[in-house]
Amino acid sequence: MSTPAPGTIEEEWGVPIPGVILPPERWTQTALKRMPAEGRLDWSSLFGRVAPVVLDLGCGNGRFLLGSALSRPDHDHLGIDTLPVVIRYARRRGNQRGLTNLKFAVGGATELLRDYVPPGSVAEIHCYHPQPYVDPKSAHRRLISPAFLALVHRSLKPGGLFVIQTDHPDYWNYMRRVVPIFFDFRIQPGPWPDAPEGRTRREILARQRGLKVYRGYGWSRVDLNVDEAISAAERQPMPFFRRDRRHRDIDRLERE
Ligand SMILES: C[S@@+](CC[C@H](N)C(=O)[O-])C[C@H]1O[C@@H](n2cnc3c(N)ncnc32)[C@H](O)[C@@H]1O
Repeated sequence: MSTPAPGTIEEEWGVPIPGVILPPERWTQTALKRMPAEGRLDWSSLFGRVAPVVLDLGCGNGRFLLGSALSRPDHDHLGIDTLPVVIRYARRRGNQRGLTNLKFAVGGATELLRDYVPPGSVAEIHCYHPQPYVDPKSAHRRLISPAFLALVHRSLKPGGLFVIQTDHPDYWNYMRRVVPIFFDFRIQPGPWPDAPEGRTRREILARQRGLKVYRGYGWSRVDLNVDEAISAAERQPMPFFRRDRRHRDIDRLERE
């Protein structure tokens, strides 16, 4: 294997970002600047081919998707986050690695699934460290809710994969209770083998600060149709948990 040229490797928190920075003539454009005015995304026109689609909801600076797009060139990837600054980082890195199977958009995860993703069209949906919004005044912004999980279930192909992870124990207790209603759910006992130091920026930071990380994955239940998933969601509670000082401190660090 050849040694990467100086200045082509980037790190954050001491862990290399997947891939290397290519010469500018090989850069690509990973920005999905505008959603279609109405209706559904057409994956094959977005990526110019037919391939399994992987979504990362609340993708932050895109670390997981960069690694996945590089190691799985036969899959197409879309990351979305409400925060424009993190998407700017993600896009720049995707462009500099010359990726054509990766796009990033600024926007909300719920809106993406509700308004743009054709039902039953996605192979995998990943959601790493959704913001717990510990302040009770912001609790309504928590992403993982029964209705959201019903949307994830609707968006996936039958038997499609859902991956979820958090470092917030109370959020995890809620996930463990509600996610198995929609997915054939398993707990991942340790770090993901493809990223032993962490798949995402938040995972790396949480582990370096001594927080336990909770990981799970599951396949969308094929015995549940869209209407049944919606009525199952209506019977489940919303996430509820208390404030935690350690998480407030790490949230501040993550923003720096
Ligand atoms: C704790 S960070 C985790 C980022 C990344 N997944 C990671 O693990 O490093 C949560 C991210 O979710 C984003 N976010 C919060 N609410 C969102 C929503 N409704 N839709 C999409 N992204 C959201 C935030 O802007 C933030 O970048």
